[in-house]
Amino acid sequence: MSFAFSAKPLRTLRLKSLQDMPDFSNVIPPHIRKLVETDQSKPLKQSRSAAKPIALNLNENPFGPSPLALKALKSAIEEVHRYPEIHALDLHEEIAAFHGVQPEQVLITAGATEFLCIIARVLLASGLNAVTSARSFIVYKLATQVTEGKLIEVRTRDNGYDLDAIGAAINADTRIVFISNPNNPTGTLLTAEEIDLFAKTLPDHVLLVLDEAYGDFAAAFAKQRHVNYSHALDYVRADRNIIILKTFSKAHGLAGLRVGYGIGPARLISVFAQARSIFSVSSVAQAAALAALHDAAHIRTAAQNNSEQADVVSSALERLGYEIPITWANFIFCDVGTNAAGFAESLQSHGVVVQPLGMWGAPNAIRISIGTPEQNHLFLKAFEAVVQSVRS
Ligand SMILES: Cc1ncc(COP(=O)(O)O)c(C=O)c1O
Repeated sequence: MSFAFSAKPLRTLRLKSLQDMPDFSNVIPPHIRKLVETDQSKPLKQSRSAAKPIALNLNENPFGPSPLALKALKSAIEEVHRYPEIHALDLHEEIAAFHGVQPEQVLITAGATEFLCIIARVLLASGLNAVTSARSFIVYKLATQVTEGKLIEVRTRDNGYDLDAIGAAINADTRIVFISNPNNPTGTLLTAEEIDLFAKTLPDHVLLVLDEAYGDFAAAFAKQRHVNYSHALDYVRADRNIIILKTFSKAHGLAGLRVGYGIGPARLISVFAQARSIFSVSSVAQAAALAALHDAAHIRTAAQNNSEQADVVSSALERLGYEIPITWANFIFCDVGTNAAGFAESLQSHGVVVQPLGMWGAPNAIRISIGTPEQNHLFLKAFEAVVQSVRS
């Protein structure tokens, strides 16, 4: 009986020909259709290539992964037939203890990028908006454009965030303010005092997303330059509407493994946790991150090299006549005064990959990650050669 019953609807479901197929694009929401039509999804240039150029385009750790993480990875690899621990409990506890917060105030995701996408998906809808600055982290745009919400990008001030302009752009429909501190790609910093003043003005219907992906580098510069970098964890402890984002992709050297996390009040974390992709943080990523969290030596090496080499590279570029904003991160923003895509291509022909910033609204600027002393030396040689050919 049941066989006869189930066979019938199957047969009637079969389409007569391809022409009878309804146009599926009619059921795709218009904001997604627009993305497909204007396809901006050109992949970013990756560091891998047959000729192994020097990759200074994605702000990775030039010293490679944390050695402690590598060791942990090697033993975790034996267990990859098992699913990862679904809530990454051990890593949650370690991260919480590391920052002096509760495990319920932490959510681990597949890179800070996954957290950004979750925030946009959960909080934005038609008629609502998020506010950020022009020339900031490209994922704020990518994460919001797949929602029906809108991203408002205010003008920059001195190559960085203009908090007055952000404040003025916030309205009753604003749900998120994204702040990259330091800012990618310009490298500028907002001090703890500036963020304090700004945070006080935020209405209750707005979530402040403080993206501290480059926090380890900024903290090292801040110590050296006698500036207060961040005390954002105090906002979490005071139960403010804030999510602080961190990542293992930069100073810890684990970009390829995709692990990041957000810290915020438990009442907010529990909401965003509902929208996390199931099993998005792999078992090997969890094991490596756990080890890297405590690899203070590796982080110190990266941050120290970065502070010293930022000066070396910036001064060399300034001597060549370029104006370089002081960086607080592991990269340098440089307006090359000519088409940056072409300039970057010429650099690539000299074996160095940098990021041209056309997509960031800066068609004449490049972003150069700070490498090891040897890499920076080779970059500067290549840069000089390109400048000479541009100027001659
Ligand atoms: C400002 C900023 N936030 C977040 C990230 C994302 O890091 P993840 O690799 O953890 O997704 C990056 C990566 O470049 C970044 O520049």
